[in-house]
Amino acid sequence: MTNKIRKAVFPAAGHGTRFLPATKASPKEMMPVVDKPLIQYSFEEAVESGIESILIITGRDKGPIVNHFDISYELERMLDDRGKVDLFKKVRAISQMARVCYTRQQLAKGLGHAIYQAKDFSENEPFAVLLADDMVHAEVPAIKQMMDVYEKYEAPVIATMQVEGENISRFGVIDAEEVEEGVYKIKDMVEKPSFEDAPSDLAIIGRYILTPDIFPAIERTEEGAGGEIQITDAMRLLLREGKPFYALKLDGKRYDAGDKLGFLIATVEFALEREDLGESFKEYLKSLDL
Ligand code: UTP
Repeated sequence: MTNKIRKAVFPAAGHGTRFLPATKASPKEMMPVVDKPLIQYSFEEAVESGIESILIITGRDKGPIVNHFDISYELERMLDDRGKVDLFKKVRAISQMARVCYTRQQLAKGLGHAIYQAKDFSENEPFAVLLADDMVHAEVPAIKQMMDVYEKYEAPVIATMQVEGENISRFGVIDAEEVEEGVYKIKDMVEKPSFEDAPSDLAIIGRYILTPDIFPAIERTEEGAGGEIQITDAMRLLLREGKPFYALKLDGKRYDAGDKLGFLIATVEFALEREDLGESFKEYLKSLDL
């Protein structure tokens, strides 16, 4: 099996219930942070990390995602005719970033079930998984940091971040032993433990490097709450059978843009970082009588 990660999977078939009514008929993954849809940020992260081939798992009402990464002939023609060269290049570049294919998850039966749809796409190669609503602002792209760990240990890698206090109960949490700075060998994973029972302060976030043996493990994974098949349960099956799993404490800042407050925070911070908007937006924020 190659130890180069060339493929990435983007599960995008969830209902986005935390963002209703915005997500009633349009995909959460297309909500813009400043002027780019959420999914484009992690898509660019994958491409910058050397990913060549991408599978997006879609579902009903997810058509705008497919259109976004395709050539937009009429729009490009109009921009070209009007001499809007920069905009033309920006729009055209989106459809040229990587080889993209799509498959549909007919029922949103959980993240494990969504990832299972990538079985043929993986062609027995290890692959990356990126959840678009977890945005990571980092010097070295988050998934690249993980690819480096994969290449060294040749075993699946899960992204984690440190979470202070009671908030840890909102995440999957790892029980692990540090093997080098920021890299952990996982002993166990617990889904949403109470603060007292949490085995560490390292929470699992939406970036994974997985190997193809995850697919038979997903087949053997029983449905959990709400009939969903959880990827954590499938990974735990393999872990219990002695398969090594590693975790990386990501170097960077993570935003939970699938949550309303997290989305607002990401919008403000990404806007402040922008050369064209940052200064004037900062002036506006300062002027608010808070
Ligand atoms: P979330 O846990 O954020 O679920 O999924 P969700 O449905 O998108 O949003 P809420 O919690 O109802 O508000 C994490 C990622 O996994 C995908 C989602 O599209 C999202 O990118 N997913 C989730 C699937 O592709 N299929 C599923 O069955 C569940």
